[in-house]
Amino acid sequence: MENVQRYIEEHKERFLEELLELLRIPSISADSKYRGDVAKAAEAVKDHLKNAGTASVDIYPTKGHPIVYGERLVSKSLPTVLVYGHYDVQPPDPLDLWTSPPFEPMIKKTTIHPDGAIFARGSCDDKGQLFMHIKALESMDRCQAIPCNLKFLFEGEEEVGSNNLETFCSEYKELLACDVVCISDTSIIANDTPSITTGLRGLSYVEVEVIGPAKDLHSGVYGGAVGNPINVLASMIASLKDKNGHITIPGFYTDVLEISDEDRIAMNAAPYDEDAYKAELKVDGLMGEKGYTTIERTSIRPTLDVNGIWGGYTGEGAKTVLPSKAFAKISMRLVPNQDPGKITKLFSQHFRAIAPDAVKVKVTPHHGGKPAVTPTNSLEYQAAADAMEKTFGKKPIPARGGGSIPIVSLFEDILGVKAVLMGFGLDSDDIHSPNEHFGIYNFYQGIRTIPYFLENYANAKKSS
Ligand code: BES
Ligand code: MN
Ligand code: MN
Repeated sequence: MENVQRYIEEHKERFLEELLELLRIPSISADSKYRGDVAKAAEAVKDHLKNAGTASVDIYPTKGHPIVYGERLVSKSLPTVLVYGHYDVQPPDPLDLWTSPPFEPMIKKTTIHPDGAIFARGSCDDKGQLFMHIKALESMDRCQAIPCNLKFLFEGEEEVGSNNLETFCSEYKELLACDVVCISDTSIIANDTPSITTGLRGLSYVEVEVIGPAKDLHSGVYGGAVGNPINVLASMIASLKDKNGHITIPGFYTDVLEISDEDRIAMNAAPYDEDAYKAELKVDGLMGEKGYTTIERTSIRPTLDVNGIWGGYTGEGAKTVLPSKAFAKISMRLVPNQDPGKITKLFSQHFRAIAPDAVKVKVTPHHGGKPAVTPTNSLEYQAAADAMEKTFGKKPIPARGGGSIPIVSLFEDILGVKAVLMGFGLDSDDIHSPNEHFGIYNFYQGIRTIPYFLENYANAKKSS
């Protein structure tokens, strides 16, 4: 293991250069214009895996973007870790808010990242974190120190719902057979406060359309007598939460697992500075469900948020018009044991029920995902915690995450295995936002930690 760490130290500048190259490929999965670039990124990931030491690696085309799968099997008597990551990225817009172009990576120093951070779309989510695993493999390979069997599954559709990966997992169940999944696609609390993500929220995502008169009307001639779809949509949305921030959809909270007072106390012991939180977001006040802390609101409580809303005239100047239609995209983050299918249904029923006769309502479900929880008393959690303690000099704190990685629950359902969510980003790294970045320190810490994790896990399995 010392050799591996020395190898990392000696080659880390090159590792960084190689990551920057990968970040230059605009692998935006949501935008069909970038289909070729997504394929190019898959090829690049495949080549990197091959050079790093996988014995076999292939690109599996899907109905959408390709899946890259490679493996390095050492011995049947050793456990197998499946590494999952995604090489697709979110669209970079709004472009004018970036301080340097999203696909021309630049290293800049920030207060939180005094050693520099890589500014580029995908640097943290998730190309930078996926690349840590490839470079950890290279380092272990060159030092002949691969402690267990390794499988690598990198997809190009995480940011659009992982639909084809689900099919792939069912179809290639035997190929993917493993003891545990390791994912670096989450964050730690701070660089001096390592943490391991012990859960993810699920997601139900719907698009709604409110339809009024068959055509746009003069807002003077008809205004006052006809239901304006935008006004109606706004008040319907407003009614989805009460004054305490509770969601009003009947049955919405029925399946929510309330956590024990003891667990609540433990989770709220994690460092959190409200003033710093507000300062970072440049807001004077916070808003959320009454009776819960910020840590709870962003992890163990479900949410309902409008992600986009449009309709009517939004061009230059004023146009007096009563629009025919209004639209919104609404997401609900879900917690154990809420079911996305059930929640989507409850939402649709309720949304139709509260619509006045003056309008018609259409609800179209988008992708969803189940929430996930990962145990802290497992071999893999302990292996990850010990690995992080070694590289950070501090025991990591278990922390539930607020985001979603839908495939985690599917790995459980299809492959019958749990995941360990050992991510190295920071919540302040602006993933999905302009100026996404990833600390160089974080990138290297990931590469250093992964080999320890694999070694710990292999040893623990041996003696279990
Ligand atoms: N890596 C994120 C999820 C994440 C980020 C989890 C930070 C915990 C902390 C992932 O790429 C993501 O953005 N997922 C989407 C899910 C979706 C598109 C189905 C999300 O959470 O919005
Ligand atoms: Mn991600
Ligand atoms: Mn993402």
